[in-house]
Amino acid sequence: MSSAETLLAACPAKINLALRILGRRPDGYHELDTVFQTIDLWDHIRLHPAPEMQLTCDDPSVPTDGSNLVLRAASLLREHAGNAARAARIELRKAIPAQAGLGGGSSDAAGALRLFAEYWQVRLAEPDLLDLGRQLGADVPFFLIGGTARGTGRGDRIERLPSAGPLALVLGLPPFGVSTAVAFAALGTELTLDSNDVSFRRFSELKWKGPNDFGRMNNDLERVVFPRWPALAEFRDGLIASGARHALLSGSGSTVYGVFADEPEATRVARDLGARHAGWRVLTSRAIDAAAHVVRSADR
Ligand code: C5P
Repeated sequence: MSSAETLLAACPAKINLALRILGRRPDGYHELDTVFQTIDLWDHIRLHPAPEMQLTCDDPSVPTDGSNLVLRAASLLREHAGNAARAARIELRKAIPAQAGLGGGSSDAAGALRLFAEYWQVRLAEPDLLDLGRQLGADVPFFLIGGTARGTGRGDRIERLPSAGPLALVLGLPPFGVSTAVAFAALGTELTLDSNDVSFRRFSELKWKGPNDFGRMNNDLERVVFPRWPALAEFRDGLIASGARHALLSGSGSTVYGVFADEPEATRVARDLGARHAGWRVLTSRAIDAAAHVVRSADR
């Protein structure tokens, strides 16, 4: 890498097209069956060679100490880089809001793994990289794969699905976030299912036939999140009333999204719902087939 070049990672957001909770696991996590989808909304991580490791972020609410998933990803990968592990100055530019159910932190972690693997020339087989991702967070392996994919286990066992195609989306971002840990904790003792109960798992298996088959694509977290934040259910109802083919809480929220027939319709609905929901950011986006990935770029 010449000094005139920097490395850039592009890290997409995701939505969950469906999310089933199958039970509670002995490790405190929940056994999931979910369909992930990357969408056209991106964080960027720029890496400049530097004498010391340093992280900056344009969003002051994001911690830039060792707790940041970008630095944790670098530390994890360093063990595989040996002497080649040179330091870097890292600029994180956030467009994906936190606590939104859009996987921003997880996508940044996946992007950072790809970025440092390139910088340090670490050649890891995909299963090994997925294992590192898994150590950083349950959603991280998905962002190494991207597109349309099924997640089982903690959501970290990924199986590619046929592309959902360029779904036209409206995203509703309320002026508050929902903590994933709090949402899962709210499930409380409702779930005492044994995650090894194979018959339950088979019964619950998500069989998605593509964008014309949203019929059984629910999100089980809605039943704990919507009663606590009724504004989210109201927004979902607004999406349905506006003609959404599918409208759901993404992950544990707080984003609520709708799938529309085409981009012009999504744009019209976003404008209309944005005007009616003060304090909300209402955006259009679309499904994409990309994962978190590295692009080389000239230094600026
Ligand atoms: O893995 P990650 O740190 O992203 O998960 C955040 C929190 O969400 C966990 O600490 C856990 O409380 C909850 N969670 C869960 N079951 C999952 C994924 C996440 O209970 N499959």
